[in-house]
Amino acid sequence: MYDFKEKVALVTGSGKKNGIGFGIAKRLADHGATVIISDVCKDIGAKDYTRIGSEEELKGLAAEIGGRSLVMDVTDMDTIEKGAAFIKSEFGHLDFLVNNAGAAPAPQFLQYMDLAMWHKTIDITLNGTLYVIRQMLPLMTNEGAAIVNTASRAGKRPRPFVGAYCVSKAAIIMLTKVLAHEVSNNGIRANAICPGQIDTDLEQWGWELESKILNKDIDKVIADEKESIPLKRIGTPLEVADLVAFLLSNEARYITGQAINIDGGQLMEI
Ligand SMILES: NC(=O)c1ccc[n+]([C@@H]2O[C@H](COP(=O)([O-])OP(=O)(O)OC[C@H]3O[C@@H](n4cnc5c(N)ncnc54)[C@H](O)[C@@H]3O)[C@@H](O)[C@H]2O)c1
Repeated sequence: MYDFKEKVALVTGSGKKNGIGFGIAKRLADHGATVIISDVCKDIGAKDYTRIGSEEELKGLAAEIGGRSLVMDVTDMDTIEKGAAFIKSEFGHLDFLVNNAGAAPAPQFLQYMDLAMWHKTIDITLNGTLYVIRQMLPLMTNEGAAIVNTASRAGKRPRPFVGAYCVSKAAIIMLTKVLAHEVSNNGIRANAICPGQIDTDLEQWGWELESKILNKDIDKVIADEKESIPLKRIGTPLEVADLVAFLLSNEARYITGQAINIDGGQLMEI
């Protein structure tokens, strides 16, 4: 167990019970942190491919882990500013920031894709990460403050039909490295994680897309994916959460600016 008793953590896009974000929030709470679950809410104007649920449901989810909830759209500066003000007034500071929100709103064949879709994907997945970092950094003044940004295997290995997503995730890796340099003098560490195939709605959507595009049975798509993974199985949100908890902990005090794969061995880099 890590000792996160005095720590305050914000996890973006953590309002779906079966998503990676909630897995991370739960794990940080297991280690004693006070966790702020944040996400968009349909009843205040969520867009497609985001969480569908009310503010009350978000509160209920936070209560399950003894945390707090915050309605925050990472593409909307106003809600991020209000989020930072909420954290400042309630806790006075922020120890851990996990930028988990992300989306791949539609199939994206680069030559023909609707450019609005390109901008939307990059806005949620890349720009949102920067917007949140900029507002939260002034609150990260305590010793041991750390940031984890969620990139993806797709940021290191191209995947057809999700070009905007791949580009966003590659950019998050570089953003994390530049950030790690810039905040090191303030004692803050920043790392990225690169999950492979993790069992969530987003990955399910990817399998369904592949099944349609390749006219291949979805069970066969999933079976082939498993076969391509050296550990021969799909990962779980809590396995990703364990990596995030480690990267935020004092055990990882000499690790910064890295983009760490968690993918059952699909990418083996030197
Ligand atoms: N599942 C995987 O295999 C996998 C692999 C690599 C990377 N990832 C990344 O992990 C993160 C979590 O993905 P997931 O698989 O749990 O997907 P998910 O769709 O279950 O969760 C994504 C969350 O982000 C939220 N979100 C979307 N737009 C938002 C916005 N504008 N503001 C705030 N929140 C917003 C959604 O509401 C949702 O709760 C994403 O960044 C994703 O790209 C996932």
